[in-house]
Amino acid sequence: MSGGGASMDAVDEQRIAELTAMVRAQVTGGSDARLAEIFDALVRHLHAFVGEVQPSDEEWGAAIEFLTRVGQFCTPTRQEFILLSDTLGVSSLVNVLNSGGGEFTESTVLGPFFVAGAPEVASGSDLAAGAKGTPLHFAGEVRGPAGEAVAGALVDTWQSDTEGFYDTQRDEGTRLRARLRTDAEGRFSFWSVVPSSYPIPQDGPVGVMLAAQGRHPYRPAHLHFKIAAPGYRELVTHLFPSGDRYLDSDAVFAVAASLVKDLEHHPAGTAPDGRVVEVPYDSVEQVFVLNTAGGAREGSS
Ligand code: BEZ
Ligand code: FE
Repeated sequence: MSGGGASMDAVDEQRIAELTAMVRAQVTGGSDARLAEIFDALVRHLHAFVGEVQPSDEEWGAAIEFLTRVGQFCTPTRQEFILLSDTLGVSSLVNVLNSGGGEFTESTVLGPFFVAGAPEVASGSDLAAGAKGTPLHFAGEVRGPAGEAVAGALVDTWQSDTEGFYDTQRDEGTRLRARLRTDAEGRFSFWSVVPSSYPIPQDGPVGVMLAAQGRHPYRPAHLHFKIAAPGYRELVTHLFPSGDRYLDSDAVFAVAASLVKDLEHHPAGTAPDGRVVEVPYDSVEQVFVLNTAGGAREGSS
């Protein structure tokens, strides 16, 4: 795209200031004070953005056309607007703004591959269901702000396979995805395989945007967790095995240093839980610290 609108003279500037003031006055008249605050800021920033960029009619038309295509691409199983928010870093910004601070496990985006109501399995289960790759033993512990064990927490976990695909993309039944409960000490564990980096969906307008921005579509390998327990704030987060080439350029900006973990490498043999593993395997442990339900600003993307 080239060019922009005509350059502004002093009269234009006054006309623009009047226009913005008129719009701000009109959008803030409702009875909901928070909504008025949001609309006021929206109009101020939107008008300042358009004033800075000075789009031509064609450019503004292209922007409207792009947003129209984003909406048209949405289905019950494909949310292109969330992907747009993710790839512009807005989802992560909302996460950071609503996180409870350094003492709690950092939250990240949910992503489009979460499936509500995954099968509940016993702690220690193997979720690989035949998926090939290096076996991975995950041992987790869920704690509250005072270090107390959170027993009976419901843990959803899901991840890509060693080729970077989720089970929902292969249509071969549930695998590398489950719900588990923490025990009396707040612990849970499972076996899976070491996940791989993968590209986010690129077949829609967000893919066109990434290409126009000269960006790759990859996410570094990760495991997803969603942890819920009565009295605690729900945590949605990832863990990222260290060493991935995309850790510094995640397409959705969800990597936090505190969530990058070294995997421990083990030779074939009997694992600490008694499982005999016939090939070399990896393991990783993580303590998840939850905030209490009222402990931070509620609401996140
Ligand atoms: C994911 O990790 O599953 C994901 C998150 C945001 C956008 C696309 C994919
Ligand atoms: Fe993912």
